Amino acid sequence: MNTDPAVMAFLQTRRSRPAKLLGLPVPDRDTLMGVLTAASRVPDHGKLEPWRFVVLDGAACARMAQMIVAHGKDKAIEDEKITKASMTFGQAHLVVTVVASPKPSDKVPAIEQTLTAGAVCLGVVNAALASGFGANWLTGWVAHDAEFVAHALDITQDEWVAGFIHIGTASSTPPERPRPDVAAITRFLD
Ligand SMILES: Cc1cc2nc3c(=O)[nH]c(=O)nc-3n(C[C@H](O)[C@H](O)[C@H](O)COP(=O)(O)O)c2cc1C
Repeated sequence: MNTDPAVMAFLQTRRSRPAKLLGLPVPDRDTLMGVLTAASRVPDHGKLEPWRFVVLDGAACARMAQMIVAHGKDKAIEDEKITKASMTFGQAHLVVTVVASPKPSDKVPAIEQTLTAGAVCLGVVNAALASGFGANWLTGWVAHDAEFVAHALDITQDEWVAGFIHIGTASSTPPERPRPDVAAITRFLD
């Protein structure tokens, strides 16, 4: 049996870093492509590849922040929600958008394609962490506003945003969050 204690230790201690703590440096293009390659190595029923990536660098994040303000005002979204969302992008230096891109299939239900897209999101977070960076999977109203993401990120009507994965260098380590009591949620049938 092959064991890999280092990988197991990583998986048992891995944790996100809040997006607001993520600054420069961010991964260079080669490192990021390695992260996306690792994240794309994912269980995918029927090999449909029901996801794709849209990468926003610092300038693109700043543009997103401005577009969020314009769109939010246009749609009379609450000021507080506009400010929070635009600041999240305004402070960002690198965001990987994981776009769920469901494919027509008689065999693989949409929910399974959704699960795969979620696995990819976690893969981006984990691969970024394993590359020495902090990462945070966020969504919020911007992710779910189909009109906005169609305009800002060229996302089609059949697609949706599974996650905005913020990546950068964490300026500090926040306190650990409570973790599940695994024994309490696990039942062994024998
Ligand atoms: C689909 C999804 C969407 C999320 N969206 C947000 C969000 O918009 N804002 C937020 O503060 N946290 C959000 N989170 C939670 C963060 O990713 C959080 O930092 C994470 O659960 C911490 O987990 P970890 O330390 O085990 O990686 C989201 C999580 C998931 C799975």
